[in-house]
Formats: sequence, C-alpha cells, structure tokens
Amino acid sequence: MARIECPECGHVEETTGLVTICPNCKADLRNVMAEMGHRRETLREVTGDDSMTTHEFIVRTKDLHKIYVMGEVEVPALKGVEVNIRRGEYLSIMGPSGSGKSTLFNMVGGLDKPTKGTCFIEEVDMAQLDAFELAWLRCRKIGYIFQTFNLIPVMTALENVTLPMIFAGMSSDEMMERGALLLDLVGLGDRLHHKPYELSGGQQQRVAVARSLANNPAIILADEPTGNLDLQTGKEIIDLLKELNEESGVTVISATHDLKMIDVSDRVIHIRDGQIERVENRADIDLEVGTLGV
Ligand SMILES: Nc1ncnc2c1ncn2[C@@H]1O[C@H](COP(=O)(O)OP(=O)(O)OP(=O)(O)O)[C@@H](O)[C@H]1O
Ligand SMILES: [Mg+2]
Repeated sequence: MARIECPECGHVEETTGLVTICPNCKADLRNVMAEMGHRRETLREVTGDDSMTTHEFIVRTKDLHKIYVMGEVEVPALKGVEVNIRRGEYLSIMGPSGSGKSTLFNMVGGLDKPTKGTCFIEEVDMAQLDAFELAWLRCRKIGYIFQTFNLIPVMTALENVTLPMIFAGMSSDEMMERGALLLDLVGLGDRLHHKPYELSGGQQQRVAVARSLANNPAIILADEPTGNLDLQTGKEIIDLLKELNEESGVTVISATHDLKMIDVSDRVIHIRDGQIERVENRADIDLEVGTLGV
C-alpha cells in the first residue's frame, strides 16, 4: 500500500495502484506519482541494488505453479515451470490450447499471482513488491500485447498509445510527441486520430504494438499477437516485433500457435499440460529447417 499526499489540499490517499487525480480536490497527481517512482529507482541506485539493470536473465521463474480453484474443482494450469529468459532474447512459447501459456504470461507480467514458486523480473522477486511497486514495474518495464488488441474503443490511436504514459507521469507535450513517433514507427503516422473501429485488424494490432512501447519497456509480452489476423498481416506483425527486438534490444516473449514465429525466435519453449515439454534453440531450429529443405 502506498500513501499519496495531494500537494494542493493535503488529502492522503492510501492506494494499491496508480492514482492520477486527487479524489478530494481533483488536482493532477501524476507528478507526485512519477516522483515516488523515480525516488524508488534512485533509492535502488544509491543503495547499490543494480538488480534492475545488469542481470543476465531478465525473467526467471522457479518452480512456478498455478492452481485455479473453481468451487470444489481445482484446475492445475502450471506444474513447476522453470524458465530463464535472457535480456534481448526473442522467445516463443508454443503449446496446445489450454496448456498454460496465458497463465504463464499472467504470472510473468504480474497480472496474477502464482500458487507456489517464484517469478523474478531482473532478479526482483515479484512477490516481494508492494502494490505500488508492482504497478510501477508493470507500467515501466513491461509492454503487453493481446490477441484481441484490447484497445479502448472510444479513444483515438494516439490516445490509446499515450494512455500508459499518463500513468508514468509524462507531460502532455512529451506524450503527444512520443505517441506520434511510436505510431510512425509502426507505420501509422497518418492514422493518429483514427478510432479502433476505423482501423483494420492489422492496424489495430500495430497500435497495440506502439502502445506496448509507450514507456520504453524492457520486456514485451505478446499473448497470441497474430491469433486474430490473416496470414500476411500476422507476418507483418511478427516482422515488426522482430525488428523492434533487434534494433532496440527489447526482450520479446510471445505465446503462439503460429509456426511463422519459429523462424524469428531465438528459442522456442514447448509447453504441454502446464509443464515444459522441450526447448529448441535457434541452432536446432536452423538445422531442422535445413533438413526439411525449406
Ligand atoms: N481464470 C481461470 N479460472 C479457472 N481455470 C482457468 C482460468 N484461466 C485458465 N484456466 C484453465 O487453466 C488451463 C490453462 O489455461 P490457459 O489460458 O493458460 O491456456 P493457453 O495455453 O493460453 O490456451 P489458449 O491457447 O487456448 O489461449 C486451462 O485448462 C484453462 O481452462
Ligand atoms: Mg491463451
């Protein structure tokens, strides 16, 4: 629980998330939130905790279990998953429907908590973070892309992309400039003011890719990013993610059924019934493709 004090009226808000407007006097609290975040980052620097920057593995899970409880029934979705993901890696997670891909994503992305086991982001144990720190980590370190795009329908492309920047405490001018830049980067420089229903599926997913980059994350988590797209458009999104991965060094972790993803992946983790079945490295994949004469 974090305590946010409004600089205008002195109202103190106890919060488990991010508060951008004072519930009492409606003052803008983004700067206060941003300062708290910076203070914590600075604190880590001055206390010599360099865990947020230099570790080889950007994500590590240890004996990760998730059991969903539905009344009397327990559904074991993850059964002891251990993965080490390197900074800058492009990793695909493949597996049949119901194998636990989205569940794993929700744990790594801090959207849900494991029943047992640990998930580290840059060697920080997510279970040890308070709600504010977790919200901060999610906002600043991770960009999310979903199968169904998850754009806000009443907002324009630019507003969708800049939304996460509000939570990071960026100024309006900075937000507009960066939002336009990101949309340009994904090839939508001429669609800034279009709403999602005025865009094609592929364009909507491009907006979602731009949004995932809003706060310059270290990790992009993409859950079936091509699941709702036709072959060609899906390929364009994969190529875009690969380009971002190569040029900016962002780590891409993508759950997929899509065999096209294999071509661009450094590693493919196959998961079945909540467990890792096998792991393929780039070299093995090249070999297999070569053997097939493709
Ligand atoms: N919120 C939930 N409550 C109960 N059971 C759930 C919940 N979410 C997922 N499950 C179950 O957990 C298992 C893993 O589901 P998950 O969504 O992680 O699979 P997935 O690999 O992402 O599948 P898909 O490829 O269809 O998206 C499934 O058996 C599913 O029914
Ligand atoms: Mg899924």
